[in-house]
Amino acid sequence: MSGRRVRLGVLVSGSGSNLQALLDACAREDFPAEVACVVSNMPGAYALERARAAGVPAVVVDHKAHASKVEFEAALLEALRAAGVEWVCLAGFMRLLSADFLGRFTGKVLNVHPSLLPSFPGLHAQRQALERGVKVAGCTVHFVDAGTDTGPIIGQAAVPVLPDDDEQSLSARILVEEHRLYPLAVRLAVTGQVALNGMCTRVTAVATAGELALRSPGAVK
Ligand code: GRF
Repeated sequence: MSGRRVRLGVLVSGSGSNLQALLDACAREDFPAEVACVVSNMPGAYALERARAAGVPAVVVDHKAHASKVEFEAALLEALRAAGVEWVCLAGFMRLLSADFLGRFTGKVLNVHPSLLPSFPGLHAQRQALERGVKVAGCTVHFVDAGTDTGPIIGQAAVPVLPDDDEQSLSARILVEEHRLYPLAVRLAVTGQVALNGMCTRVTAVATAGELALRSPGAVK
């Protein structure tokens, strides 16, 4: 790709399969971003190994090693600043970020969540969906604000909930869509093709707008 790539900082806490999807997307020549660094608040996160395998700097900023949230976020900011990060992608990152932190990257923090928001924010979204008996579940990529999974929605993908699903099988089906949707949303957002109007976003890339509200190809059996 000609032109400069936007520098992403990816924040993780666990397995990092969404990080992997972003790393894979960034490996493509025409992708407009690169992963400049990966930061985990969990020292043993497998995501760190994925980053290292891709040759991306990976650092641990352990929340438990800091006396307060303010100090933890200051260390997080320093790691991102040192890597020249412009946009932040949360990928299975299990800490809530303060308004102060978000103010350092206004409109430039994205998250992927395993539910069709605004339904089932917070922890165990797939379990919440199963317990509520919904027939359609899915995932959402959204801008991050100081609430829990409350920011403006960029894109969503739906999957069916099948009669014999448990948390594991539903999570796996949703994850496939997360891995497709997140890189697409990142590409559109960092290239300025997602316009914000209050809680609503509008994708200005005509060819891809439909992809942001896709049903899983396996939805109808
Ligand atoms: C994903 O379902 C993500 O949406 C959620 O946590 C899970 C972590 O996945 N926030 P991974 O660490 O990206 O594999």
